[in-house]
Amino acid sequence: MRYILTELNDRQLVIRINRPDKLNALNRTTLEELHGVLRQAATDPRTGGVIITGAGDKAFVAGADIEEFASYGQQEGTILAQQGQERVFDLIENFPKPVLAAINGYALGGGLELALACHLRIASSHAKLGLPEVSLGLIPGYGGTQRLSMLAGRGKALELILTGKMITAQEALELKLLNHLSPDNGELLPLCGRILGEMLKNAPLALAAAIRAVNACFDPDANGFKTEIREFGNLFDTDDFKEGTRAFLEKRKPDFKGK
Ligand code: COA
Repeated sequence: MRYILTELNDRQLVIRINRPDKLNALNRTTLEELHGVLRQAATDPRTGGVIITGAGDKAFVAGADIEEFASYGQQEGTILAQQGQERVFDLIENFPKPVLAAINGYALGGGLELALACHLRIASSHAKLGLPEVSLGLIPGYGGTQRLSMLAGRGKALELILTGKMITAQEALELKLLNHLSPDNGELLPLCGRILGEMLKNAPLALAAAIRAVNACFDPDANGFKTEIREFGNLFDTDDFKEGTRAFLEKRKPDFKGK
């Protein structure tokens, strides 16, 4: 792969977007590589969860690659947004394993949208976040108008999108865009690793079911409560449920197999 680096430790897959000279801007090749690596990780039993971050200290991702789409017309623009959403951003949101964004610097435009698609967001205190697309004559196209509204509410989402201004990590934390702050980049991945590690002690099928049930809350075509009932019931037929309850009664740690 040209623009993606991966590292797997303790069932945690770190995906690093690696175009630091372009502040990790998402061009088509990077998005396709991200799609490929995520598709593989979704079914790979060695991967329990994912941390997405950017190479270097300056940027997580400074947006979609402006140079690449500068000459696009209506049709290409529509395809850009549609393919990006379906192949990467929706894939992350519906990923069957926890996905954390480790925001190590600028998260702008498509970069903030990438973080918003992740299940949790943890940022270094120097990170800056924003959706500056209107300054280019565009709007966010990778789900940003929707996911920002869900997290921060309509008023704050409109303020950020219409002004296009950047906010600090502290402000983003107050707006509930972030789950946690790290004092610096040195602490960022260890903090993400500890949070993901807590999750990975739990039953993998239950994690996947919990993600589906919570996502159903934000899916206008789904009934969240009914989804929860179905997912809850299905878990009773898993080996992990039997192992989890047996381990509790036997006062030992469970050994989940993801079955
Ligand atoms: N697409 C393509 N290239 C980008 C990019 C993007 N979204 N963001 C940064 N780059 C490139 C710059 O063009 C520059 O490349 P060059 O050295 O070949 O000229 C390189 O990354 C470094 O960026 P630069 O602007 O010189 O850094 P800076 O510290 O002065 O400014 C930012 C940093 C993030 C404020 C600035 O790069 C920026 O505003 N980027 C665009 C953000 C944006 O609008 N994103 C939404 C896109 S839809």
